[in-house]
Amino acid sequence: MQNNTELYKTVSQLMLDGKGILAADESDGTAGKRLALANLPNQSGNRQDFREMLFTAPGIEEFLSGIILYDSTIRESTDQGVPFVDVLIARGMVPGIKVDGGVRQLDQFEGEVVTQGLDGLDERFKEYYKIGARFAKWRAVVNIGEGIPTNECLELNAVHMVEYALIAQANGIVPIVEPEVMFPGSHTLEEAEEVTTRTLNILFSTLKKYRVDLKGLILKSSMVLAGDTNPQQSTADEVASATLRTFKLSVPRDVGGIVFLSGGQAAKRATENLQAIASFGKQPWPITFSYSRAIQEPFLLAWQGKSENVSLAQKALLYRVKMNALAQLGKYDASRDTK
Ligand code: 13P
Repeated sequence: MQNNTELYKTVSQLMLDGKGILAADESDGTAGKRLALANLPNQSGNRQDFREMLFTAPGIEEFLSGIILYDSTIRESTDQGVPFVDVLIARGMVPGIKVDGGVRQLDQFEGEVVTQGLDGLDERFKEYYKIGARFAKWRAVVNIGEGIPTNECLELNAVHMVEYALIAQANGIVPIVEPEVMFPGSHTLEEAEEVTTRTLNILFSTLKKYRVDLKGLILKSSMVLAGDTNPQQSTADEVASATLRTFKLSVPRDVGGIVFLSGGQAAKRATENLQAIASFGKQPWPITFSYSRAIQEPFLLAWQGKSENVSLAQKALLYRVKMNALAQLGKYDASRDTK
């Protein structure tokens, strides 16, 4: 049995009260969707500017324990030539790396996808560790529809996550496993709850079967939500109850922590839902946020690609991470969230 002390230390650095994780790990293609909000074309210089402004925003280290990067971003530097990884480490934020290679359609299973990216993963982890990454992310996509997700698809994604998690841990890197039950759709809250519970049960029984060290692993989960086009939208209390019920039925107590993705929820709604979850009190696992869109969108809208807006945009970013950090503590008041 390997000594996983380093993994546990990283988990405790990431899962701190009053802090969360920023997901800034969009692939070069997906980064274009973010830049479009600032009316900028998807060019490498714009991606670099965008990330530099995020990572150097004054004060964010008070509310962020880590930042997830993409392969091209983890190799990049500021305009002054300081590697982004060094910027994060100097500010006390742990660098992470997205390592999956996106999804492909699963043959014979219409509407279902499997995540790829295991090839060469051991060598890639060795390099990422040298660069400074101490945690990683692997995302699977779970679509809800007629007869889907099937257990077969959930099982295949779970087996791939096992492989990824074992290789990460052998390299001293904490794996985040992220089965994202998709928010877009017309499904009900009850359907989302059933699917999320089944997804997590299959994932954790598979992780346990292959003896992945759950203490050295973090779950990144969607909240349990009715689909975005379902007219019957759920209240924050309903989301919180359904989400915690799901976790209690399917997430082993020894898992290192749980972080949430925002999944396309409006920024304020993602904060309100986190607050509702925190207001249920202490859970067996530390729980916090790991949003991308719900943190970055206000920043991008304020920036609009103009140097004179940078300071304002960085303040919008700081404000949003602070609101989420307050929600993590159960101290967020939506009526005072004016931005
Ligand atoms: P969103 O918060 O935008 O859902 O992104 C989080 C993430 O890491 C998706 O993989």
